[in-house]
Amino acid sequence: MTSRATDWGLAFLVGLLFASGVLTLFAGAPGDVWVFAVHGAGGFALGAVLSWKLRRVWPRVVRPEHWDRHTGAGLAALSLVVATLASGVGWSSGADVHAAGYGLLNWHFALGTVLTLTVGTHLVLRAKPIRRRDLAGRRQFLQAGAVAAGAYAVWWAQRPVSAWVGLRGAKRRFTGSYEAGSFAGNDFPATSWVADHPRPLSANHRLEVVGEVARPLRLRPADLDAGDELVATLDCTGGFYSRQHWRGVRIGRLLDRAGAKAAGRHLRVVSHTGYRWSFDTADAREFLLAVAVGGQPLSHEHGAPVRLVAPGRRGFQWVKWVERIELHEHPDDLAPASTVWSSFTAAGRGA
Ligand code: HEM
Ligand code: HEM
Repeated sequence: MTSRATDWGLAFLVGLLFASGVLTLFAGAPGDVWVFAVHGAGGFALGAVLSWKLRRVWPRVVRPEHWDRHTGAGLAALSLVVATLASGVGWSSGADVHAAGYGLLNWHFALGTVLTLTVGTHLVLRAKPIRRRDLAGRRQFLQAGAVAAGAYAVWWAQRPVSAWVGLRGAKRRFTGSYEAGSFAGNDFPATSWVADHPRPLSANHRLEVVGEVARPLRLRPADLDAGDELVATLDCTGGFYSRQHWRGVRIGRLLDRAGAKAAGRHLRVVSHTGYRWSFDTADAREFLLAVAVGGQPLSHEHGAPVRLVAPGRRGFQWVKWVERIELHEHPDDLAPASTVWSSFTAAGRGA
């Protein structure tokens, strides 16, 4: 590969890894395995192409007298790539490391994001334009194909090899999450997106069903125990999953009671803290509003009196302390922002 093809190949891979990394946060259904395949194989490909690059620049890296004012960004990119690759492979091999209160996977997200920005800076300072001959040619094509095929093979072999050498990584789910507290009632980890920590809700809590409905509802928690049941896996982007038996009321049943109108194609689930998430109503009909887990009433940390159970969606979308279900004509573009500001509302802070 020419030097420029190597450098632009690195740019492509870092972009691909950042994009697929962000997509992993939304991938939880079995059909989403490809996101993890692209991300894992992309990581191994980055390692391979980087070794090419290092053969070229290493003599300069080790001689400070050859450095110029742009070298710092290249060196920072190099350290971040090493740390991000190590944290990714460490996580998927089963390393259970915590630093400053955050687990390895959270560090990996943060490192991957800073890495993308740093490589972007290095690119702006150093990049040379790509020419036709950097892309054309049988040799380049074969090399790129070999890297892609080899990287995919390493990703594919990783689980069987981990199982063979007895690494915990072989037991992770396709999302990279490790099992915790399945079928143990409330006894599974409780996490909240950012920092929501409301006070326990009183017995006067009511759930409203409003928006594009013929008969708005206002329900007591006891009215929500309709005996609908679901076994579903809560898979947290923090890196654990827990399979549980949930009980409550199916959203479709509530919508029928409220006389949902056809115009309400989007369903918003709003928490007491202001946190909210939105779904296509057709999908959400199969979700559950749960009041009990494993036969126990939900505990406060798990969203008492009522939380959303959304199979195939990641844990942060399983809204806790639900206060309102709203039917809307249009999707909720501001929902992602609510995930940040809900921790600063009076209710979110527990005031
Ligand atoms: C994984 C991402 C990357 C890493 C870890 C990396 C690392 C490095 C390092 C350590 C150096 C030597 C220090 C310096 O002179 O700055 C360097 C040089 C350089 N990099 Fe990168 N780089 C990456 C991506 C890129 C990209 C995306 C481009 C442009 C598209 C690029 C273009 C260059 C150029 C032109 C040089 C100097 C030329 C040379 O000495 O041959 N690099 N890089
Ligand atoms: C752009 C820089 C990034 C690089 C170089 C990178 C690289 C890697 C590597 C090498 C792995 C191990 C894959 C395997 O062993 O199968 C990995 C795993 C993972 N990465 Fe990244 N990553 C980056 C960014 C991100 C971001 C931004 C996110 C999420 C926001 C993310 C989410 C994940 C997840 C969930 C796993 C675990 C997948 C599994 O266990 O199979 N990554 N990453």
